[in-house]
Amino acid sequence: MHIRVLGSAAGGGFPQWNCNCRQCTGVRNGSLRAQRRTQSSIAVSDDGEQWILCNASPDIRVQLESFPALQPARRLRDTAIGAVVLLDSQIDHCTGLLSLREGCPHTVWCTERVREDLSSGFPLFTLLKHWNGGLQWQCIGLDREPFRIAACPNLQFRAIPLVSNAPPYSPNRGNPQPGDTLGLLIEDRRTGASVFYAPGLGQVDAEVASWMRHADCLLLDGTLWRDDEMRVCEVGQSLGSEMGHLAQSGPGGMLDVLEGFSRQRKILIHINNTNPILDEDSAERALLDRRGIEVAYDGLSITL
Ligand code: MLT
Ligand code: MN
Ligand code: ZN
Repeated sequence: MHIRVLGSAAGGGFPQWNCNCRQCTGVRNGSLRAQRRTQSSIAVSDDGEQWILCNASPDIRVQLESFPALQPARRLRDTAIGAVVLLDSQIDHCTGLLSLREGCPHTVWCTERVREDLSSGFPLFTLLKHWNGGLQWQCIGLDREPFRIAACPNLQFRAIPLVSNAPPYSPNRGNPQPGDTLGLLIEDRRTGASVFYAPGLGQVDAEVASWMRHADCLLLDGTLWRDDEMRVCEVGQSLGSEMGHLAQSGPGGMLDVLEGFSRQRKILIHINNTNPILDEDSAERALLDRRGIEVAYDGLSITL
């Protein structure tokens, strides 16, 4: 199985267009040892030819340009994106569908709940109907049953409902329900190798931990180092726990959780521009290094 990190930043990207925090300023003017990052999305493939997009980032245009495998040019107009899976209805995970409108219809796999948000508050399903049939919905149930997607027949997907939060525009904001946010366990049926992808993860309960244990590689919510990071950096009032993102530090934080996962390759993704792990010279980044935890970057390729 091939995994390509198309974007590794949280909403806003790094640097964020309107942000002059220490890190955004530093990466812009070159005084910080850090890489720029686009908003999070990965692509997976069983053969390296047909790909499944997991979330569609607002930055998809530049992400496609930087990964020619997704633009194979076998015909006058062509794409290697065989289907799209949405893990939630967050703006930073769905807006890319607008940029893919010239290639409609697209097969889009998501839960009923996500389709509701994307048919009301952010009506992508409704408005894209006007582009050659728009989005063909494939329902992801909440029964944890494995499913397959025709474009990559050797992969098996399993959706795990997660506790996180619904997007700010959703009626479920602050009262998230099963189906608002998923983790995705993707397994190669030929080798049994698997990855667990969860860019929005607020809580690792026993069930989530057991699916994580099953995986060989973990691509997990790396939004914030501290729960109160937005406040400390004076860029906002929301806590990570309110936004549905489990912070890395603190008791019961992601670092504590990952102590129990020695066998897995551990990679943080969906990293907010305030997170000190983006600074390659930071103490926090050094701590991750010592714990064997990686920080995803745009263009990271993983073969399992
Ligand atoms: C999140 O991950 O919590 C959202 O992307 C936040 C947002 O939409 O700004
Ligand atoms: Mn986000
Ligand atoms: Zn910033």
